[in-house]
Amino acid sequence: MRLVLLGPPGSGKGTQASLLKDRLNVAHISTGDLLRAAVAAETDLGKIAKATMDAGELVSDELVLQLLEDRLGEPDAANGYILDGYPRNLAQAEALDGLLERLNQTIDHALALIVDQEQIVHRLARRSAEQGRSDDSEEVVRHRLTVYSEQTAPVAAYYDRKGLLTNIDGMGTIEEINERLVKALGH
Ligand code: AP5
Repeated sequence: MRLVLLGPPGSGKGTQASLLKDRLNVAHISTGDLLRAAVAAETDLGKIAKATMDAGELVSDELVLQLLEDRLGEPDAANGYILDGYPRNLAQAEALDGLLERLNQTIDHALALIVDQEQIVHRLARRSAEQGRSDDSEEVVRHRLTVYSEQTAPVAAYYDRKGLLTNIDGMGTIEEINERLVKALGH
């Protein structure tokens, strides 16, 4: 199964993808995690991406597409995957379609987590206090939410037009949300 998990920053994409990947026996591919690993390893890509990520802006489409293409070529992605944080704008959605066509693959479902803005701010403030992620400061979170509504929100309509989108209530406990996702996938 190949899934796209959509939702604003702090909506629980990473949390839910790591639960779903075990249930579905597929890979969890987070472009944010791939980028953070590149930053930590101080690769050329990581050095380019760091300032952009710290500012809450999107890293260039070309760089992220290359990162994704390399990751999709790894053995654990052969059985399917959950894309978390990609595509992030319409150009990336179209680039993904092109890449999947070359790989002779298709996306089976796009699931969008719907969460109140107040809850997002609360979750990310808590993570900021607990983990100190460099883009979780109040100011950068506000900017990430603006980038989301301007650039990423239209991606949901892109998958809706393809008949692949299901909106999922992303409020409640992690377990409750997981149950809704599993049910939507018919598992
Ligand atoms: P990315 O890592 O994708 O960050 P994001 O989308 O902002 O997502 P988050 O990780 O903040 O939230 P999430 O929805 O995964 O929620 P999570 O499960 O972590 O991207 C970071 C940056 O990388 C971007 O700004 C950009 O610069 C760059 N980037 C990444 N992809 C890119 C792309 N495709 N193109 C260009 N640039 C890209 O949960 C959040 C917190 O809430 C956690 O602490 C969690 O424990 C908690 N939580 C989760 N669920 C619940 C719940 N039900 N109740 C209470 N707390 C909960």
